[in-house]
Amino acid sequence: MGDERVIIGRDRERGQLELAIGPGDDGQRLVWFAGPSGRGKTTLLDDAVARAGERGFTVAIARGRAGALTTPYQPWLEALPGFAPAFNALASSGTDDPDSVGIALVQYLEEQAAQGPVLMAIDDAQALDESSIALLGYAAGMSEDINVTLLFVEQTDAVGVPRSYRAFLDGLVARRIVQHIEPHVTP
Ligand SMILES: Nc1ncnc2c1ncn2[C@@H]1O[C@H](COP(=O)(O)OP(=O)(O)OP(=O)(O)O)[C@@H](O)[C@H]1O
Ligand SMILES: [Mg+2]
Repeated sequence: MGDERVIIGRDRERGQLELAIGPGDDGQRLVWFAGPSGRGKTTLLDDAVARAGERGFTVAIARGRAGALTTPYQPWLEALPGFAPAFNALASSGTDDPDSVGIALVQYLEEQAAQGPVLMAIDDAQALDESSIALLGYAAGMSEDINVTLLFVEQTDAVGVPRSYRAFLDGLVARRIVQHIEPHVTP
């Protein structure tokens, strides 16, 4: 990556995100980056992901798309092309239910993390389709010893957010240590 990324200000959020993503050698980390539309979340996410990649993380970004007609699990499959063979095997045998796909996803992420730290980001997580939301719980339920950072980006003023997403995130925040970061107003 060159220096073509132009980020004005935002040193605080950039530092917060980098600290929350962590060094990649101390197990699972959960990060919740939440703020209203147009605050620069995606810009900061792309920047943080690119810099984590430069630090040696294997990086991936799944992107929620509210209202778009998506094939089940599509955001995950687009983010993780290496997961496609395992997924296709399940789909062709008719066992692409969320349980089976979730277990296969965890296996895939564990294999990736055995090679080096993984940063799995989900932008506009509140806009994922139901099947993709179902996988969030599997990813977050991975062993805490595994060097995977999950970074959930949420648009807090979105409408029509699925209850399943809210239940997932509220449950996660209640049970686990989740670093909560909010972007402040653009300078
Ligand atoms: N720090 C920054 N420096 C320069 N441009 C920025 C910065 N932050 C955001 N922008 C620009 O502002 C616009 C909105 O930013 P962005 O898409 O990242 O916001 P967002 O919070 O992800 O919005 P949404 O919730 O709608 O997805 C974009 O055009 C982006 O390029
Ligand atoms: Mg965005």
